[in-house]
Amino acid sequence: MSTSEKKKLNKEQRSTAQAVRMDPDTILEVSGLTKVYTMGSSKVTALNNINLTVKKGEFIAIVGPSGSGKTTTINCLGALDFPDAGKIIYNVDGKGMGLDITQMTNKQHKKMRLKKIGLIFQFYNLFPILTAYENVELPMLLAKKDQKERKEKVQSLLKRVGLDKRMEHRPTQMSGGEQQRLTIARSLVNEPLIILADEPTGELDTDTTTNIMKIFLELKEAGQSILMVTHNTRIAEVADKILTLVDGQITDERKGGKPLEGIYKT
Ligand SMILES: Nc1ncnc2c1ncn2[C@@H]1O[C@H](COP(=O)(O)OP(=O)(O)O)[C@@H](O)[C@H]1O
Ligand SMILES: [Mg+2]
Repeated sequence: MSTSEKKKLNKEQRSTAQAVRMDPDTILEVSGLTKVYTMGSSKVTALNNINLTVKKGEFIAIVGPSGSGKTTTINCLGALDFPDAGKIIYNVDGKGMGLDITQMTNKQHKKMRLKKIGLIFQFYNLFPILTAYENVELPMLLAKKDQKERKEKVQSLLKRVGLDKRMEHRPTQMSGGEQQRLTIARSLVNEPLIILADEPTGELDTDTTTNIMKIFLELKEAGQSILMVTHNTRIAEVADKILTLVDGQITDERKGGKPLEGIYKT
């Protein structure tokens, strides 16, 4: 990477992302994504020129061993961090108006994350002092949605993930599977362009994992685009497409679509 290319992504150089035309049926277009972590005098290339496309309503899984760059990918695509090079273009209006989030100011980046991206993490990242209802409501409060809209949305999503009887529970009063279903509801609350999930079943037993994947598949059927990273090669098989990540590079791409029943058999 040349110095000038790197400079382009520095904070001072990011102004406002200019709209670009993109395929209306594509929700996310990633090209040349590169991330280098510097620790003292040593450098780790966590992502090395990643290219990928997510179509509307597509469920993509990225599998790779520990340290292969999965979390770094989610952090960059999820507007939690900036890459050193590359483009991350989202179809923000759903009609083909693309915005490259790597060119956004910090403020725009944050807004994008809040309003357009649904994030799901391995360790749930729920607020322990808030109830289930309040945890799901929070992103809508931050997005300044009115009370009536919030109530309808939060209740319907909690019902959707089977937690309508747990609204007043706090995360510590819920099982791991329930907490992850709660984060799925939270991720959907602002109707994101895409769900980005980082090892969503990493802490769960096989039955609960199957249950979470069932919800993902139902969401996909309803048109939700999903990108999941995991080291669990079995659950990845149910996605439409499986990309393999090794040392920050995509080394393989294949079709998935296996039925959920039996992923833990054989
Ligand atoms: N904040 C960081 N600072 C320095 N190195 C990091 C940082 N985060 C991740 N890395 C390194 O980048 C590589 C990819 O990490 P990560 O994306 O977390 O992989 P995965 O999620 O697949 O386990 C690893 O070698 C890791 O040690
Ligand atoms: Mg990780």
